[in-house]
Amino acid sequence: MAEQSKTIVVIGTGYVGLPAALLLAQAGYDVVGVDINENIVRAINEGVLLIQEAELQAIMETPEVRANLRAQSTPTDGDVFIIAVPTPLDDRKKMADMSYVDSAMEAVIPHLKPGNLVIIESTIPPLTCRERITPMIEQATDLVVGETVFLAHCPERILPGDIFHEIVHNDRIIGGINPKTQDMAAEVYASFVKGDLYKTDDISAELVKLMENTYRDVNIALANEFNAVAETLGIDGPQAIQLANKHPRVNILSPGIGVGGHCIPIDPWFIKEVDPSNSRLIFASRLINDEMPHKIAAKIRHAVRDLDNPCVVILGAAYKPNTEDMRESPALEIVHLIKEDGYQVKHYDPLVPELQYESLVQISQEADLLAVLVPHTALIEDLEAHRTEIEQVMRTPRIVRYQ
Ligand SMILES: NC(=O)c1ccc[n+]([C@@H]2O[C@H](COP(=O)([O-])OP(=O)(O)OC[C@H]3O[C@@H](n4cnc5c(N)ncnc54)[C@H](O)[C@@H]3O)[C@@H](O)[C@H]2O)c1
Repeated sequence: MAEQSKTIVVIGTGYVGLPAALLLAQAGYDVVGVDINENIVRAINEGVLLIQEAELQAIMETPEVRANLRAQSTPTDGDVFIIAVPTPLDDRKKMADMSYVDSAMEAVIPHLKPGNLVIIESTIPPLTCRERITPMIEQATDLVVGETVFLAHCPERILPGDIFHEIVHNDRIIGGINPKTQDMAAEVYASFVKGDLYKTDDISAELVKLMENTYRDVNIALANEFNAVAETLGIDGPQAIQLANKHPRVNILSPGIGVGGHCIPIDPWFIKEVDPSNSRLIFASRLINDEMPHKIAAKIRHAVRDLDNPCVVILGAAYKPNTEDMRESPALEIVHLIKEDGYQVKHYDPLVPELQYESLVQISQEADLLAVLVPHTALIEDLEAHRTEIEQVMRTPRIVRYQ
């Protein structure tokens, strides 16, 4: 059981910070959640969870968590500071936008005392702990990182939608500049993680996190390339991939309409940022995946090329099936491209509150193309159950699944 006397201050209580804060409070720590968003602060103090996950809501309502967790808009003194603020891509420079981490650290530094531990959970480019955070701390205080104050990088691997299970059961990388730091950080996570904790140095931890999402991105790009080659040859790409996967040591991913979310299309750039000459495959993969929405938009145009003022119904806005999350969604980019062409476009997604519809039959009236961009399970089931009726009400009965 954790020491009740230790205070952990979690800066940034979004998808990553809040679940960690809840589990640390449940483990017995005194936890202060800090967020610049007043609505989030209020919700936490009222016991309301803005992330939709039943298990996390149940933890939020337990008496220990209600007693151990409070939220406020500025940091306070503590023993451990966990930074879980956004690190988006600076789209123009294709580099990490570190402004949120910088301001979180500026707010924490006045509270740092000898013996404190700072853990960065935000995804960061390699060398950030050594070349950015360490000088920030050492220039503003008398503290020496690794000796009188401790700095670790413990990246997060959670999957939104299954956060509770993943935050507890996933193995975790604990990166610290020296063994003492690693031991201190491991003690924090051991209070709620049931997966294995792997200790390493901070630079390795920074790179490992980026390697994980880059691995996915490069493999998706490979699937997209195979699919494109199959199309050139006039054969069924997904079926060819399935057949290749019958090899015992081959596991090609599925081709798609592009890569979305706020991790996979972003993190590979953080590797390129620190070592461009060794990131050629990573860079090429990013370009291939970023090009996909343009290719899909071209296919949609082609599907209705013979029609006058065609009406296109696009189904799916989320960045992947079975979520309402639209961050960096390729479907949104495709809709934007098609609208720019002057097509009549209607856009729906059964999981996104503002894009929901009454019935597929109703929204398909007089449509020329039903383009499925995001195959949510419920959407596909609904479509298959009513396919005949839908085709009857369309002006031109064309239903195409692009993913
Ligand atoms: N969501 C995921 O699935 C996931 C998985 C692994 C890693 N990550 C990484 O974790 C980090 C956080 O991601 P997230 O999804 O939790 O983001 P989020 O947007 O859900 O939450 C971040 C929170 O930080 C707050 N914030 C911003 N600046 C602040 C400041 N200076 N002080 C206090 N609060 C501040 C924001 O208001 C927001 O509530 C990012 O680096 C992300 O790449 C996210």
